[in-house]
Amino acid sequence: MGRLSGGSPPVEPPTIRMTRATRSIAATSGPTKMGRSAARAAPFVVHSAATRQRTSFAPASEWYVWAMTHSTTGPVHLLALTGAGISVESGLSTYRAMNGLWRNHAVKDVATPYGFAQDPVTSWSFWSERRAEAQRAVPNQGHVALATLEQLLGDRFLLVTQNVDGLHQRAGNQRVVELHGNLHESRCDKCERPRFADDRIYQGSAPKCEQCSDGLLRPAVVWFGEAIQQKDMDVVERFMARAAKHRFIFMAIGTSGIVTPASAFVEEARKLGAESWLVNLDPARNEAYFDRVLLGESGTILPQLLAEKRAQFMSP
Ligand SMILES: NC(=O)c1ccc[n+]([C@@H]2O[C@H](COP(=O)([O-])OP(=O)(O)OC[C@H]3O[C@@H](n4cnc5c(N)ncnc54)[C@H](O)[C@@H]3O)[C@@H](O)[C@H]2O)c1
Ligand SMILES: [Zn+2]
Repeated sequence: MGRLSGGSPPVEPPTIRMTRATRSIAATSGPTKMGRSAARAAPFVVHSAATRQRTSFAPASEWYVWAMTHSTTGPVHLLALTGAGISVESGLSTYRAMNGLWRNHAVKDVATPYGFAQDPVTSWSFWSERRAEAQRAVPNQGHVALATLEQLLGDRFLLVTQNVDGLHQRAGNQRVVELHGNLHESRCDKCERPRFADDRIYQGSAPKCEQCSDGLLRPAVVWFGEAIQQKDMDVVERFMARAAKHRFIFMAIGTSGIVTPASAFVEEARKLGAESWLVNLDPARNEAYFDRVLLGESGTILPQLLAEKRAQFMSP
């Protein structure tokens, strides 16, 4: 099994153990130049990949046109991919927004194994703040819409999240793959003890592992430069293989399309015949791979989408 070349840790995005699904994508996922105008002028802005033009629509009429012209029927399989953007309306910042603002540390200083080894106390201060914020946060309407979609679709739904805040589960989602781990769990940086639920706040100290002599506890999140669990990639790949036999929708929400491997899922899904949708506040780096792009806040767009498409999603 090879690895994506992402440059040397500690300053690069998470390295992944590759699967067939991702190997070919690394070379082709390049930056796409997109204009950034008018994104916030309308409730949201839609453009189709066919014309590459942005047009403002009243949301309901856009969904109506889509619903009326979309001839494919049958059970929808929906793979939803979320990123930090979906939790912004719950009051949680993206790392990009935090960068440089957090006590004069770049986020990557405290979100790498190297940074943790250098200064575990500062790293824990950062992650303790993230824990406390996530505990206070409440799932927003975007999270709720995805939980409702899972209720409607059951096994035909899978949610892959890059978020570590646990808000999807608190909104009611159960079919969740947490690609980057979970903020509310810790593990040892030395021994093999299983990760365990931990919402304690560690300020001014770095906790020692009680089960081995020299390990430190660390948050059970995947840091920049660390590998994503292969079993998680396998779940995504298996779902895509199943979805490819049906009507398959891939929808990315609140993610900039920069961090691999998630940024590459859209291309793989399209190869398997998926229709691809992006719901994001700003244009994403991998936007060229999306059939439809809806720019705006996911807490507004997702409930609207759900209201318009509920009947379609429920069709047998
Ligand atoms: N809540 C969390 O768990 C959390 C928070 C910060 C960072 N992260 C981690 O940061 C990494 C960054 O990757 P990423 O792609 O997830 O985030 P990102 O910061 O790279 O991109 C976030 C995207 O969300 C969009 N956005 C902002 N507000 C939005 C809104 N209201 N509705 C819809 N879109 C909105 C932005 O335009 C941006 O493109 C991930 O690895 C993730 O694990 C997680
Ligand atoms: Zn230990």
